Amino acid sequence: TYVITQPCIGVKDASCVDVCPVDCIHPSSNEPEFETTEQLYINPDECIDCGACEPACPVTAIFEESAVPEEWKSYIKINADFFTGQ
Ligand code: SF4
Ligand code: F3S
Repeated sequence: TYVITQPCIGVKDASCVDVCPVDCIHPSSNEPEFETTEQLYINPDECIDCGACEPACPVTAIFEESAVPEEWKSYIKINADFFTGQ
């Protein structure tokens, strides 16, 4: 799965949402949570590892799970936890 990390915080460019073929990046700008979440998140159960989102992000916030920089490894769980219970 792909993971959104710290550089997204406060940026939320959302270009990644537009290129994802399975709409697994949330919240998108038309969802109410978009106003209150500090970043966007990738649903690990729905991501098909296509890689389209990674180059679309202007701040290089997206990495394949195994390539997440050491200091941002915690974001693997942070992304997954956003979808827990949904
Ligand atoms: Fe969506 Fe593909 Fe990115 Fe997964 S890798 S979040 S399927 S664009
Ligand atoms: Fe965030 Fe980059 Fe997507 S800033 S919303 S991960 S395009």
